[in-house]
Amino acid sequence: MASLTAWRQGTSPTGAAIHQLTGYVDRWSARAGERIRFMISSAADRAYSLRFVRHLCADPNPEGPGYREIVMPTPLDGQRKGLFHAAHPGSYGRIEALALDGGGLRLSATVWPTLPARGRQTLIAIDVSGVAVRFEVGPHGGTQLRLGAETIAVDAPMLNRRWYAVEAVIDTAGGTLSVTQRPLHPVGTITDSGLGAAKAKLPKIAGTARVLVAAALEGGQIIAHYNGKIERPRIATLNDVTIGEWDFTQGITTQRIIDVGPQAAHGHLVNLPSRAMTGSNWTGAVHDWKSAPEQYGAIHFHADDMGDCGWPEAFTLDVPTDWPSGFYAAHIRNDAGEDYIPFFVRPAKGARKADVAFLVPTFSYQVYSSYQRIERSLEILPRARAWGALLETPGLNPEYGLSTYNYHADGSGVSITSMLRPQLDTRVRQMSLVDPVPTGSGTGRVNCDSYVVDWLDRAGIVHDVLTDHDLHEEGAAAIEPYRVIICAQHPEYHSLRMIEGFERFLDQGGRLMYLGGNGFYWRAEPSAETPHALEVRRAEGGIRVWATEPGESYNQFEGGYGGLLRRVGKASHKLVGIGFSTQGRHLGFPYAFTKGIKNPRVSFMLKGIEDAATPGAKFGDSGFMGGGAAGFELDSTDARYGTPPNALVVAKGIVIHDDYGWVNEDMLIHRHPRPREDWSCADMTFFETASGGAVFSVGSMTYVGSLPPENYGNVCAKLTTNVLRRFMDPAPFR
Ligand SMILES: [Fe+2]
Repeated sequence: MASLTAWRQGTSPTGAAIHQLTGYVDRWSARAGERIRFMISSAADRAYSLRFVRHLCADPNPEGPGYREIVMPTPLDGQRKGLFHAAHPGSYGRIEALALDGGGLRLSATVWPTLPARGRQTLIAIDVSGVAVRFEVGPHGGTQLRLGAETIAVDAPMLNRRWYAVEAVIDTAGGTLSVTQRPLHPVGTITDSGLGAAKAKLPKIAGTARVLVAAALEGGQIIAHYNGKIERPRIATLNDVTIGEWDFTQGITTQRIIDVGPQAAHGHLVNLPSRAMTGSNWTGAVHDWKSAPEQYGAIHFHADDMGDCGWPEAFTLDVPTDWPSGFYAAHIRNDAGEDYIPFFVRPAKGARKADVAFLVPTFSYQVYSSYQRIERSLEILPRARAWGALLETPGLNPEYGLSTYNYHADGSGVSITSMLRPQLDTRVRQMSLVDPVPTGSGTGRVNCDSYVVDWLDRAGIVHDVLTDHDLHEEGAAAIEPYRVIICAQHPEYHSLRMIEGFERFLDQGGRLMYLGGNGFYWRAEPSAETPHALEVRRAEGGIRVWATEPGESYNQFEGGYGGLLRRVGKASHKLVGIGFSTQGRHLGFPYAFTKGIKNPRVSFMLKGIEDAATPGAKFGDSGFMGGGAAGFELDSTDARYGTPPNALVVAKGIVIHDDYGWVNEDMLIHRHPRPREDWSCADMTFFETASGGAVFSVGSMTYVGSLPPENYGNVCAKLTTNVLRRFMDPAPFR
């Protein structure tokens, strides 16, 4: 990565060229009594101190609700030896052993380069008995073969995003090398085909070879990563008998690459390249790779793909059985650096569960994580310094890879995100942005979700914590023991299994409080083989920074159709009554009660706010996120998409603001089908389910930031507490 080199050579604004002390965990959550592993990198192998803390409020804003952590002593605490570990982005395929008999070789593949002018990029690298064969994209974009001191290349560069059949022939006995490049779809007036050939004295290529696809191992480093698609890399004898041929149409859901040649020299993929990609033979007639896998034989490799950092374990925590369920972090620190690595503790197996559980949106955390936005990183720094908050961000540490909100360097969207790397924007004591409101905190993710923990704690409401990953893993069984499930600021990404879990929970009389915005929007699915990775294919509609290419909207990991949950019959409106309909700047605006608040069905909401809760009266006009309860990303009701007919809107946060636009999936022509007040708003919605349960939704991403003002005693907080207390009451809703 060029940007990485730049950072390494220079000095980052935090004063360090690399993150001085960071790490990651092997799982998002553990039950009390279970084990969680920590991988730590400390620059220059410096020692560091370790302690564990439980967070009640992670907001670092000195004018905020008040940072609250509880030190949780363990036998691991104290000084620990440090070791530096680097991150090595860039995906490739690796075949450990392929027998070569010393005859000539014919290497071939079909390729679709995406950064052909970027310099040397490996297609196939063979290392055997001290001989290195490099079949690659040369420094000028033409196909090239290097063998010992010999280099032959096609003069004409390949064009970006076009398919080529490329071949290299090594005639050891005849002493000739050749390389050819043939476009599958030639264009007029541009020459992008060619042949290079030379005579040379060639070494014998015999022994057990290590073969890499899309990268090369040189001097102990994996280098010269390729950007683009490769189909069917093949190594054959001079007279075209297959030695090894990797058919990427097989094992698409896996990280294995299958050799259909006589040696069955199967390999594996490193750093999660994209599979289920259209091949050179894709006709456009099929969109689901499962119905015609033979048209999906391409793997798209990127020099900035990132999977498992693979660092060795630094320490292991056996979560003490007496630790309460909650938000936790390992706090590591030395003179050079500092980090808080968050994790979540569930109650011990068999322990008595609370009635209420906070479902931490770890799918959404992970899908967002490692969002590289260097301008934002630089903007945050001065305030973070002043507040004593964490300084490091993904933008300052590009070696840990990208977010699914980024593009790869070749312009393709990032669809896979791994948790086995430092996720530097998913930290506690951290801000996500400089809040436009002077007293605002600019918090996101764990930090703003901790307002909910703080609120529950101050209200004396015993609660457990569990994560999206637990819900996906265990299905409805994970949440069934609870009467009330709380989802907070931004539960945007879910697997189908998780949605089905919620549905079952509600069918059984469960109560769901959705205290956020833009929730239940995209489908994200993990891989059965690599559960640390999540995949998001941004198909069709949806506010999104990138869109899937034609024919590539089905997930590689589990084969389902990617994109909006709405497109697979799981619109959030059906589940929580409302759905994403507008977004804009991180500003917060008040709600106003509707006449729905006077409906006897919701009289339980009124305790202590009887005077305030009159139709038309505003509330939620302060807060630590944008200065108000309705803002950033908002959800509204829409019967067409499945808002239940008994849904009652008790308040509306209408936001008419130049920066707030519609979601594109609602726009079929140039005019929105509904009046602006109906969609540019957060609809605070309540409905009862047929099984005696209920749902309460607020539909705004800044709502949780409006719980803390007045010591969690403002109208928003009181109303939310009233809802929770009624939801905790086992009496069925009728
Ligand atoms: Fe979002």
